[in-house]
Amino acid sequence: MDSILVRGNGPLKGQIPIAGAKNACLTLMPATLLSEEPLTLTNAPRLSDIATMTQLLQSLGAEVAGLQQGQVLAMSSHGITNHTADYDIVRKMRASILVLGPLLARDGHAVVSLPGGCAIGARPVDLHQRAMEALGAEIELKDGYLHARAPGGRLRGAVIDFPLVSVGATENALMAATLARGTTVIKNAAREPEIVDLAQCLRAMGAQIDGEGTSTITIQGVDRLHGATHPVVADRIELGTYMLVPAICGGEVECIGGRMELVGAFAEKLDAAGVSVTETERGLKVSRRGDRVRAVDVVTEPFPGFPTDLQAQMMALLCTAEGTSVLEERIFENRFMHAPELTRMGANIEVHGGTATVHGVAKLKGARVMATDLRASVSLILAALAAEGETVVSRVYHLDRGYEKVEEKLRACGAQIERVRA
Ligand code: EPZ
Repeated sequence: MDSILVRGNGPLKGQIPIAGAKNACLTLMPATLLSEEPLTLTNAPRLSDIATMTQLLQSLGAEVAGLQQGQVLAMSSHGITNHTADYDIVRKMRASILVLGPLLARDGHAVVSLPGGCAIGARPVDLHQRAMEALGAEIELKDGYLHARAPGGRLRGAVIDFPLVSVGATENALMAATLARGTTVIKNAAREPEIVDLAQCLRAMGAQIDGEGTSTITIQGVDRLHGATHPVVADRIELGTYMLVPAICGGEVECIGGRMELVGAFAEKLDAAGVSVTETERGLKVSRRGDRVRAVDVVTEPFPGFPTDLQAQMMALLCTAEGTSVLEERIFENRFMHAPELTRMGANIEVHGGTATVHGVAKLKGARVMATDLRASVSLILAALAAEGETVVSRVYHLDRGYEKVEEKLRACGAQIERVRA
């Protein structure tokens, strides 16, 4: 198994290009199932999760080709031959559940494995199921698989009122409703930029959608969708992660392609901690105002709140802050696995349930640490960049799920980082 070796070496300076969003791409790809005509995505990130979604779509009979070194995904679903998302793929990547809505909407039936456990929380899919049922689907759980069927072969529009905000369930409902008979209203919908991006892509395919980016989305079902070409929105989590590089190490980094509206709540916290974020013609420029950041409290919330996917990285920064910070994780029940690893690097963190209290220390120290999930892995790299001495982060396959060319991007700013192949 590969590991990443980092030697902390002071302030970093440079430009980092931000890729297309993993989590947008993972929902845009299943949208191809809604049409017999080709869907082409540009600005796609090159990540192992995208390869897994490619494999899943291909297993259903879709054609998926990566062009221009994978940055363009040319997809066609004219010949869907299989309607079962197999356990072996779904267990590797929970976003596989996003084929449920499109398959049901298109052909009136789908069989999707339940994903099983996850490192950051239980992550059930009951809201996806309930949304499909609201649209008229009959769903039965057999042998670990959801067997879903639309009576008469077509879903029908309905009001879907989510009891809590779910990004994935909103995406599934939105995709399914585009081809349902009549009007669907999604209440308490997620407002993430990835939802807006999906709605824009579906609209380019001929869907009739209003209200994306707000808590109520209205969809008027149409008989068919056509082909389209759509650019994937910039990855706000990759953006936020690289904004933390000058915050934790000093120096100055310009994140090319970054936009303030993607990271509003996060940029506000950085400002309160003593980190300047300014908009430039090409992106966002970030630098630390003093020698050390100040402690700030953070609560994770659905968009436009502080994203759970930046909590681990923010914790790495706050480990080096002056003062004590409290981080409250409200989205996932087990998302502090990075805390004991950061502690191995000299951080002072107490975790009680969903709350972590971080007492800042003047300096972190390099150590051997282990990545437990995607965002945890990059939080350890951030900590390592600011630490004295050498850090080895193992289990970096987690990193490859969501960060493209991380060593190259950081090296371009002067970081000493290399991948050690096992
Ligand atoms: C998406 O996951 C992202 N993944 C996650 O990114 C992200 O952390 C999460 O949204 C929250 O922003 C993708 O987009 C592929 P949810 P998703 O449904 O859709 C509960 C990363 O690091 N819930 O919004 O699965 C759930 O357990 C990742 O890139 C139910 O109870 O998240 C959680 O507590 C990891 N029942 C909350 O809702 C359901 O049926 C929000 O989850 C669905 C969700």
